[in-house]
Amino acid sequence: MTSLALSTPASRDEGATGFVSAGGPTGHFGPAVPILCRRAAVVTGVAGFIGSHLAESLLALGWSVLGVDRRAPASDRVAAVNLAELTGQPGFSLRLADLCHADLGPLVSRSEVVFHLAGLGGVRGSWGPRFADYLACNVLATHRLLAACEAAGIPRVVVASSSSVYGENPGRPSRELDSTRPASPYGVSKLAAERLSLAYAARPGTDLSVVALRYFSVYGPRQRADLVLDRLLRAVLTGVPVQLLGDGSQRRQFTYVGDAVAATVAAALSAPGAEVINVAGPRSVSLRRVISVVEQVTGRRMPLVHGRGGAGEVHSTEADLTHARATLGYAPAIELDEGIGRQWAWTTSDAARLRAYPLGVS
Ligand SMILES: NC(=O)c1ccc[n+]([C@@H]2O[C@H](COP(=O)([O-])OP(=O)(O)OC[C@H]3O[C@@H](n4cnc5c(N)ncnc54)[C@H](O)[C@@H]3O)[C@@H](O)[C@H]2O)c1
Repeated sequence: MTSLALSTPASRDEGATGFVSAGGPTGHFGPAVPILCRRAAVVTGVAGFIGSHLAESLLALGWSVLGVDRRAPASDRVAAVNLAELTGQPGFSLRLADLCHADLGPLVSRSEVVFHLAGLGGVRGSWGPRFADYLACNVLATHRLLAACEAAGIPRVVVASSSSVYGENPGRPSRELDSTRPASPYGVSKLAAERLSLAYAARPGTDLSVVALRYFSVYGPRQRADLVLDRLLRAVLTGVPVQLLGDGSQRRQFTYVGDAVAATVAAALSAPGAEVINVAGPRSVSLRRVISVVEQVTGRRMPLVHGRGGAGEVHSTEADLTHARATLGYAPAIELDEGIGRQWAWTTSDAARLRAYPLGVS
């Protein structure tokens, strides 16, 4: 049995030739974004959940992508599954590097946009001695990357931030100018990374502009195995009970990964400046509601046992999307039942089975 909390725990050629939807292997068709042929991007965290979906969409839009991650597909089955669609595609190359130590100048020097998705997620794991890893991967690595981008004259960095920077919801949708009171060491590390990015963008004489995206509970195929929907769907699939921490009244504004990717691509193309922008799904829902949608979509009962709430987990998150709409033209397209249906299809696929076993074992 596992326990379940609502942990919330990315060749320089000519430019625009038209507008297309941000479709591609994610199976998502979001708001129209300009197609910028053969623009060069770096995606850090490319072997991760969101970073791999982002790289797939960028390639489908005609960008070239240099993916950076410290997890090697040859030795890490999650990385192997996440990178399977990317490996061998024209325009994609992978560089194995730890952002805390590698020489980052040569990695970013040929790109027009750096999407910084690398980081250490998970609220509960950030308490205790592992906080040093969170500081290194979320704060120090971001600082090193920003310094390399500034030195190389990169005009735009898009940074993955998190709804965790807000802390407890104030009883109305959170807005970007609200005060931030993260309730976990993870949230503190993401806020530090966000503030570092804005500080770099505000330096006198810099060419660097930054968009920090506060993702709200992203889900979909290949979701991290520590996150709530993957755990619920695996419990339904295997019949092994999942422990529900709290009474199920906790609320989250779940965001389908294709919507998160569409917002992330749009952030690369928005007007220069320093921005913080919420990225969330259509509405905030209770965990009880999510469980009922999972049961409807899968046609199976959820095996559950009850436990007490997890440290650092806020009760509710809810996003005000006014700024995202105005700045990025963003509107979430995927409703929860459709997104869960897609994730369930993936959970029952060969790729998901492969992720559950060591490399070399079928
Ligand atoms: N998934 C969500 O719901 C969610 C919500 C809010 C914010 N975020 C943020 O979005 C980003 C991506 O999240 P995800 O769910 O895809 O996570 P993930 O764990 O699937 O991917 C992160 C990737 O970053 C890589 N990485 C970490 N530290 C590194 C380092 N020092 N050098 C090189 N690579 C490193 C990891 O190996 C991993 O492949 C993270 O920054 C996370 O904090 C995610």
